[in-house]
Amino acid sequence: MKKTKQDITKVTTQVLRGMKEHGKKIAMLTAYDYTTAKIIDQANIDVILVGDSAANVIGGHRTTLPITLDQMIYHGRSVVKAVERALVVVDLPFGSYQGNSREALASAIRIMKETGADAVKLEGGKEIVESVERILSAGIPVMGHLGLTPQSINKFGTYVVRATEKAEADKLVKDAVLLEKIGCFSIVLEKIPAKLTKKVVKELAIPIIGIGAGCAADGQVLVLHDMLGITQDFSPRFLRRYANLNDVIGDAVRRYVDDVKTHDFPNVKEQY
Ligand code: KIV
Repeated sequence: MKKTKQDITKVTTQVLRGMKEHGKKIAMLTAYDYTTAKIIDQANIDVILVGDSAANVIGGHRTTLPITLDQMIYHGRSVVKAVERALVVVDLPFGSYQGNSREALASAIRIMKETGADAVKLEGGKEIVESVERILSAGIPVMGHLGLTPQSINKFGTYVVRATEKAEADKLVKDAVLLEKIGCFSIVLEKIPAKLTKKVVKELAIPIIGIGAGCAADGQVLVLHDMLGITQDFSPRFLRRYANLNDVIGDAVRRYVDDVKTHDFPNVKEQY
């Protein structure tokens, strides 16, 4: 039975905290447009991330660095229009918050005002703490992102698993503790050893969302285009494909092309 507006309880940051407290896993996916956001919201996704991975899967860029604040706002606004239940988080793109905390706040305010999103996400720990604190002081909920932070890919030089060495693992734990202390409501941990995720999950009261970070995380996130099998050239070990839409779409388009070329489409019932 389809739920009416009155049946729908909006997911808030407090709801997510309660889910962690009660051992209920959090399901999060990315979305970048109205139509798919509507589908995944109606399928009971808890959190929708308007990720800067839009630079890859929508823009065709090699990294997430080129996407602009205006482009993130366009995607964020399209998603928010469709969503009734999920918490919507929008990524602050590369270059919109690292310079100084005033700029960071101005970027976050633009996202909140112009998209209607519920929260923003920023990559990094100690290095960006001033920016995170300033955004939080304006009453804007912040989700952190540690581990493999794609906006720093040029520093890392590779997309391999992060924090396998003690020094980087210790820094990650310290950063996570710091982000919780200053008031982040949740943290994404990307591509780190499962054991390290377990340690962070135990130490922190806020929900930890993993991507390639093992089963101990309080929730999981995947890029929608990857889990639906629309993208084919990205196959890390952590990715589970729930469909092969690349084949489905390709097959439908081939049949359409064929029908048009053979004068089968449109037929008499499909015209005025
Ligand atoms: O931009 C994105 O899609 C992300 C997820 C991979 C967590 O940040």
